[in-house]
Amino acid sequence: MCGIVGYVGNRDCADVLVDGLSKLEYRGYDSAGIAVFEKEKIVVEKSKGKLNDLVEKMLQGKKPHGHCGIGHTRWATHGEPSDINSHPHGNKRVTIVHNGIIENYKPIKEFLISQGYGFESETDTETVAKLLDYYYDGDPVQTIAHMIDEVQGSYALGIMFRDFPDRIYAVRKDSPLIIGVGENENFIASDVPAILKYTRDYYLLEQNEIAAITADAVVICDNHNRLVEKEVLTADWDIDAAEKGGYEHFMLKEINEQPTAIRTTIAPRIQNGMPYLEESGITGEMLKAFRRIYIVACGTAMHAGLVGKYVIEKLARVEVTVDIASEFRYRNPLITKEDLVILISQSGETADTHAALKLAKERGAATLSIVNVKGSTIARESDYVIYTHAGPEISVASTKAYSVQLSIMYLLAFELAYVKEAITEQRCRELTEALVSIPDNLKEVLEMKERCQFIASRLVNSDSLLYIGRGLDYALSMEGSLKLKEISYIHSESYAAGELKHGTISLVTQDMPVIAVATQSDLMDKTISNVVEVKSRGAKVTMICSEDLDVDKNVANHLVKLPKIDDLLMPLLAAVPMQYIAYYTAVLKGCNVDQPRNLAKSVTVE
Ligand code: M6R
Repeated sequence: MCGIVGYVGNRDCADVLVDGLSKLEYRGYDSAGIAVFEKEKIVVEKSKGKLNDLVEKMLQGKKPHGHCGIGHTRWATHGEPSDINSHPHGNKRVTIVHNGIIENYKPIKEFLISQGYGFESETDTETVAKLLDYYYDGDPVQTIAHMIDEVQGSYALGIMFRDFPDRIYAVRKDSPLIIGVGENENFIASDVPAILKYTRDYYLLEQNEIAAITADAVVICDNHNRLVEKEVLTADWDIDAAEKGGYEHFMLKEINEQPTAIRTTIAPRIQNGMPYLEESGITGEMLKAFRRIYIVACGTAMHAGLVGKYVIEKLARVEVTVDIASEFRYRNPLITKEDLVILISQSGETADTHAALKLAKERGAATLSIVNVKGSTIARESDYVIYTHAGPEISVASTKAYSVQLSIMYLLAFELAYVKEAITEQRCRELTEALVSIPDNLKEVLEMKERCQFIASRLVNSDSLLYIGRGLDYALSMEGSLKLKEISYIHSESYAAGELKHGTISLVTQDMPVIAVATQSDLMDKTISNVVEVKSRGAKVTMICSEDLDVDKNVANHLVKLPKIDDLLMPLLAAVPMQYIAYYTAVLKGCNVDQPRNLAKSVTVE
């Protein structure tokens, strides 16, 4: 989604804005622009395309020179990507950048047209800019407060008023915005990586708080103009975490960071060899008391929830319902105050997951979020939060966030199974110890990149592919399939292996490669039968299995053999070859791995 950066200080503002925006590229965008005060004049430069296109324009003598300004990367919602629809928007008096969607922009636009305003773009954002101009009475805070009363929808806004060339203003509702606090310089940004080069200290702007930011001060008030005191937070991500560190792509770096991410995430949640989740505020006894568990999330995070369902139901014998957040919020789910709703989100800002959280709270259910970004909206608004410690995930395709989400799912399952006496203390210890060993097992799996590269070379010319598996392997293969399609643009579906015969097997020919995930001993024979079925119909089969599988080498065309660990934990290892296969296929196809077309890292609109 869109990215916002703002700067006030002594540095060259355009450089800081472009640099900050480059750290937000991962969010996905199709155009970029900046506005800088040149003395008392607001100078705007913007361009369709990538940041480089904007930089090219600026190199042709169009770079605004000054020390105070705002910048934006746009992910089109209203109006196609174009120079005109790019932000900033406004006029000589008020200029803004916006992330979010203004739901009632049409009536506001009609009203403003009736008042003599003209519009250049098709965006909802321009309406807000002109509305601010309409209300402007010399007092920016008062003007923004009027705007808040009028506008419905979500917004994070960076605002410049021509009459105040030493400052920028910021306000947000349902879209993220932070204020970076430096020495004689201050920032606004959609996310921490944009400011890390300059400062680690920041304020979180709350709903409808209005900030006035100069080089020396940040003054924050609510929409009734009452001053708000805020705690300065310190980001614990270091700047290297947001750089590629010698890897060709962030995705490859993040795949390789999984051992560390898992270790850092689980270490504080294990005490004396047993799961310990109480720092989140949720105890085993509380977990035990819930009638039912719902897991709600989107995309990869939802896939982590699916693995969680299998593991919790298998070990703890508690019913778990997994929902796609955009479905959950509109299907009037049967949640009550006796239920626990678990929200999983890397960013903590996903609009549908946030809406699901609000719904769960309205219905009185307890809410627990599993979130990677500290202080994000979902984390702050849940009753309980367990932070994953993956560090910043920059590549749009989620990898390490998935692994840490799985790790927390396992700890929850172990804890719940133990307090419910569905497993013995000894089994709980065994499983916890196996989880602790995962980072070491993973190092071995990460060495298999050449094997996966070779398999990718066999897939690269395919138009479509099937992932198959049973039980946990089926849940896991959904993530493998999503990874492949989102970055390599090869159509892919994940299918329950036993369901193939009921229709989908008619698609299987020599042109339909199949990746079979077969890590679960109790279902192995059945999955192998399905593999034989597809192979005898011409499919080239890759099988991801554990090293102890004694299988005729002709069963599959390619085997990826993983270290043997407890079956229940195999998804943590088997995810890696899937990620590698997707990655190398996309690289071989020359795709933009870290920023696939049409996708945004953090989906903050519905
Ligand atoms: O930030 P979230 O975890 O809430 O994001 C949810 C999905 O948009 C996300 O997992 C998406 O599916 C991945 N980027 C795919 O790799």
